[in-house]
Amino acid sequence: MLQCVLGVGISLGVSLLFQWFCEAGPLACCLPAAMHSLVFLCAQKVVSHHSTVRGALEFIPKELYPVLFKAAFMDKRTLVLQDLVQTWPFPVLSFQKLLRKCQHCDRALLQEKPNKLCVQTVILGVVTYLNEALEDRLHSQSRRQRLQVLDMTGLQDDGIDQGPESMSLWSRTVTLAKACIDVSKHQSKCTKRTSKRRKGPYSSAVALPPPQPVSVEVHVDLFVNSTSYGVLKDALQNNANSMLRLKCRDFRAEELPIASTVGLLEFLDPTGVRQVDLRFNNLGLSGLRVILPHMAKFTNLVSLKLPYSNIDVRRLSAGMEGSLHYFATQLSRLSCLKELNLGSSRLSGKLRQLLGDLQGPLESLELAFCYLLPNDLAYLSQSLHTPTLKKLDLSGNNLSDSLLQPFQHLLEEASSSLLHLDIMECRLMDIHLESLLPALCRCSQLRYLGVFGNPLSTRGLKNLLQRTMGLLYLQLVIYPYPVDCYSENLPWPPTSSNLLNGSVDEEKFSRVSAELQQMLLTASRTDAVWTTNLCRHNTLDYFNL
Ligand SMILES: *[C@@H]1O[C@H](CO)[C@@H](O)[C@H](O)[C@H]1NC(C)=O
Ligand SMILES: *[C@@H]1O[C@H](CO)[C@@H](O)[C@H](O)[C@H]1NC(C)=O
Ligand SMILES: *[C@@H]1O[C@H](CO)[C@@H](O)[C@H](O)[C@H]1NC(C)=O
Repeated sequence: MLQCVLGVGISLGVSLLFQWFCEAGPLACCLPAAMHSLVFLCAQKVVSHHSTVRGALEFIPKELYPVLFKAAFMDKRTLVLQDLVQTWPFPVLSFQKLLRKCQHCDRALLQEKPNKLCVQTVILGVVTYLNEALEDRLHSQSRRQRLQVLDMTGLQDDGIDQGPESMSLWSRTVTLAKACIDVSKHQSKCTKRTSKRRKGPYSSAVALPPPQPVSVEVHVDLFVNSTSYGVLKDALQNNANSMLRLKCRDFRAEELPIASTVGLLEFLDPTGVRQVDLRFNNLGLSGLRVILPHMAKFTNLVSLKLPYSNIDVRRLSAGMEGSLHYFATQLSRLSCLKELNLGSSRLSGKLRQLLGDLQGPLESLELAFCYLLPNDLAYLSQSLHTPTLKKLDLSGNNLSDSLLQPFQHLLEEASSSLLHLDIMECRLMDIHLESLLPALCRCSQLRYLGVFGNPLSTRGLKNLLQRTMGLLYLQLVIYPYPVDCYSENLPWPPTSSNLLNGSVDEEKFSRVSAELQQMLLTASRTDAVWTTNLCRHNTLDYFNL
């Protein structure tokens, strides 16, 4: 009975979908939004019944694949998902295009943590598709290649707190690398079989030219550390001849030795790479000297992140002075560079030397905890970079003292372009902020401001909120716990560790927080988020600015 009802429901779903496609297809864009979701409801119904879909695959118009894919991904119908991928009728299968908010379904799956089972299923689908194509070739049956590119870029990765159901960038990298290795193995096994047969007694009978090789290029972001180095290296090494090829967009390596890093960079497709992010690698100037020359072939490299590289320019020996110069020269060869992160290196007084030779202006510069000196900021405010800077991170530099005035000047120069400003843990007190406010208020495009970890008072914060109310695009402010909300007296002036470690009086703080919310409400600025929560900060990326 239940099956009967289900069956009717499903065939109703299929026929509705067909009807919508055949009759209303071209008209669909004129229908009100509510009607569109009916298509999606039907798609959900259809994908809930695997055997029906399997039976109907041949007849499903290819235009319905995208909506069925989204429905199957959303409802975790993995069997159907795999069938859809294996028979994908278009040259490109792109997560970004298929999982965004669309006319049929408001949900932007792309902005959610990617479901592990579904991602694995899509990869498995592609592998099966390739293996089948290989078998066909073996039997000299040529079939038209459909899928050529699987684009997996754009999936979320907040690094932490992935949960068992979702799949981090790190494990996606491992899974894909293993898939590449499997395909390669299968491929070489088949090649051996073929060549044996060709050499066999009937070789003259099989003189047909071999059918065109089928292959799929996977566009991905890769994240590797020493645990996954081996498997990724194996996959990339076979890349050129493999039927499943990785084309890396953003490459991130964490705590990886220099030789391993170079070993991987060597095998990346040079035209695809947009970002290289090498963090916690403790490279030092001598390590960077080895690695930087390998970047030059990435002709589309826009973003280079080298935080925690342990560069230290204080008391440079003559040899190290040469290394610094070499590093700067190598940087200047990256002709598309728009973003540079040298956070947590000691760059005191050397900024001109490092950035002065760059060919074009940067749009994002991250120099957190870099022990900058006044002449560094003075250089920066006159440099070609400043009028184009969209993102600037000077967190952890002591702006309360001799850097205050040069920073004020820098802010004025960058005010027309700046969208994103981080000045966390900069020892800024009310009085310093007051002197920065005129320049800050000129940053009319500003969308984000991070002032967490500065010793501001409630009064200083309210002043900041009041004065920046006119910055209409300012949507997110991460502010510090006010110094008057701490339970015990702070040492004065407090260091950032005093502020981070001290205990906050929750009651006092929630009163202040409510007052700030009230001020936003009164000013009709509830679109702006004022928070002490640093988590929001992680999702902000140069490429999303
Ligand atoms: C590499 O990253 C993975 C995933 O975050 C982690 O489980 C593993 O312990 C890391 N390896 C090392 C050597 O830190
Ligand atoms: C940094 O700021 C504090 C005031 O908050 C000041 O006492 C100190 O001397 C400053 N300079 C340096 C180099 O730390
Ligand atoms: C934080 O404060 C506690 C006592 O309030 C102290 O024992 C501890 O050492 C401090 N930690 C740091 C990192 O300053």
